[in-house]
Amino acid sequence: MIRKLKIGSVELRNNLALAPMAGITNAAFRSLCIEGGAGLVVSEMVSAESIRYGNKKSLKLLEIYPSEHPIAMQLFGADPGSMARAAKLAEELGADIIDINAGCPVKKVLRSGAGAALMKEPLILDAIVKKTVKAVSVPVTVKIRCGLVSGEVISPRLALVIESAGGSAITLHGRPASSFHTGPVDFDALAATAAAVRIPIFGNGGARTAADAARILGTGCAGVAIGRAAVENPSVFSEIAEGLKGAAGGAAPDPARRIKLFIRFLELNAALYGGDQGVVRARKLVGYWLKGFPDSSALRGAFMKTAGLNEAKALLLQYMRDAKYL
Ligand SMILES: Cc1cc2nc3c(=O)[nH]c(=O)nc-3n(C[C@H](O)[C@H](O)[C@H](O)COP(=O)(O)O)c2cc1C
Repeated sequence: MIRKLKIGSVELRNNLALAPMAGITNAAFRSLCIEGGAGLVVSEMVSAESIRYGNKKSLKLLEIYPSEHPIAMQLFGADPGSMARAAKLAEELGADIIDINAGCPVKKVLRSGAGAALMKEPLILDAIVKKTVKAVSVPVTVKIRCGLVSGEVISPRLALVIESAGGSAITLHGRPASSFHTGPVDFDALAATAAAVRIPIFGNGGARTAADAARILGTGCAGVAIGRAAVENPSVFSEIAEGLKGAAGGAAPDPARRIKLFIRFLELNAALYGGDQGVVRARKLVGYWLKGFPDSSALRGAFMKTAGLNEAKALLLQYMRDAKYL
């Protein structure tokens, strides 16, 4: 059921959250998702160690637009002190919630002891959550997986660790770390984890429609976190909310609206990074955004070659005219 939800002291207008995605959920994209009905948006993961050493690219990731609240800033790291210090800075810069990444399966992250490696080290995870909770006055949440490998379900135990360390909510990606972002979602693991703790659990994995969200909420999860479906369509939150209310929602926006939204994203990205870099950084999204469009692979190829905002906009507008979307 669609409903308001409280994470610690932060009230969300609904229980549909944007899942964190590296290279995608920047301030520009998050703003569109808030506009598209998300109850909460989450940043891409930011390295606590890079923040500690003043890395400019990482500091840039902490930037928050006034148009994107409530926002959780996601941090990754293995050192409780660094995580707590980075959390404090993120709070000072306007984060409403601090989210700790304990589910990333990328080798480089695992080798540093961060991300999903923390699922093997509940004592370190406990220390990170406790120290971060102590360092900030905003709520602290954690994102985990159901297990590390297929068939393993350790999320209920980890959820108890997180809850007793002071965590205010958990996002549970219902696929094991070894599966990265593909394969079936373990709905039984979602149910067992939601039943194990009192803090809200956002179930995550493969939600694209109101029916998918209803299935996740049916496990006892308080909310749903949506990743790739939001990249294809940042209005997916409103559509799912309408669908859950029983309204005639669920219809994807028409292609012209999707392209216009993408153009707006390019403009917001240009404001964040400058025209050229804004377009270069949008390349990661273009495949998702233009999925299913006629001749989308040719359009994608042409987009990859554009230099600067004006060229990219001209290409998309011409495509709309040729396809009679305008
Ligand atoms: C391109 C990409 C980047 C991601 N980056 C992060 C990240 O920075 N932090 C994180 O906790 N999860 C990350 N994830 C995982 C997503 O948050 C989410 O758990 C996953 O995509 C499953 O949700 P979905 O099926 O709705 O896409 C990423 C996923 C993708 C596809």
